[in-house]
Amino acid sequence: MGIDSCIAVLRSGLFLFCALVASSAVAHAQADDLAAKGQYIFAMAGGCACHTEPKGTHHVGARAFPIPFGTVYSTNITQDKETGLGAWTEQQIQDAMTKGIRRDGSRILPVMPYEKYSGVAQDDMKALIAYLRTLRPVMKATPELKSWTPFARSIGTPLFLKVFGRFSNAPAQAPKSGIERGRYLVDHVSLCGDCHTPRNMIGVPNRSLYLAGAGKKIGPLGNSVPNLTPDKETGIGEWKREDIAELLISGTKPDLDNVQGLMEEVIQGTPLGYKDMKKEDALAIADYLKSIPAIKNKIE
Ligand code: HEC
Repeated sequence: MGIDSCIAVLRSGLFLFCALVASSAVAHAQADDLAAKGQYIFAMAGGCACHTEPKGTHHVGARAFPIPFGTVYSTNITQDKETGLGAWTEQQIQDAMTKGIRRDGSRILPVMPYEKYSGVAQDDMKALIAYLRTLRPVMKATPELKSWTPFARSIGTPLFLKVFGRFSNAPAQAPKSGIERGRYLVDHVSLCGDCHTPRNMIGVPNRSLYLAGAGKKIGPLGNSVPNLTPDKETGIGEWKREDIAELLISGTKPDLDNVQGLMEEVIQGTPLGYKDMKKEDALAIADYLKSIPAIKNKIE
């Protein structure tokens, strides 16, 4: 081998080395970008507040949710390998979030809104899972489901979904702007309807009262939730789009009162929440709410 070709080999070796270092740096940067995008989705989802007890450690679950046949507890979504999602693959997390099926094949009760999350755009879901990977592992076992029926998961849940389930097809990408973006955020990411739509005794949402509010007795966790439809008398028809956007980001109503209870929780987040949403997304949500049918439904 002549000296020239020797240098050439050395150079190409160095080049290869540099290329490898550079490409792994690019891969890292891309992973960081993905997690940053996912962090925003997490905020738009109210910081997944159901998985944090009020004033408790973030994301470790164990928050009690009353159901018609007992009590179910939200799960630990930190990266702890034993009690959280640390040992789950991306696909397993996605199946839990969009199909309600756990790693061991058992069913998640539809208190977890996986029907709605089934419509989260594929690239948003990928980003969200990348963000979940950054949650500091905290060990905390989830309390067992308390139920007087032993078949709530194995038989009750699939039956319930068969009759009442509404799954969506996830688009590849989320709508970028306008009313369509607002609808996407309301229905699949921020899940306004999960709290603001009344449900019957067994938890089925009353779709003819979509976003029309619910009184204390049937509202989520005993909260009374206002009517968000554009009805002028019983809804928020008199609010300007800027008023709605302002409330979502600051929690302040046009009468300068602050919202409380669960609404305050999803705005303040864990600590990421609606308060971190971009103004344009808050306005897209407002525009969508102004476009839905007005429903007269007085909430006490
Ligand atoms: C976890 C349950 C929950 C979710 C999710 C939720 N809300 Fe609320 N919201 C409430 C509760 C409870 C109140 C009443 C707060 C109070 O009385 O101070 C409320 C109040 C409001 C109000 C004040 C209306 C009025 O007449 O005073 C608006 C507007 C509102 N929510 C919009 C939204 C929008 C838009 C979304 C989705 C981006 C959303 N909410 C998601 C529970 C929720």
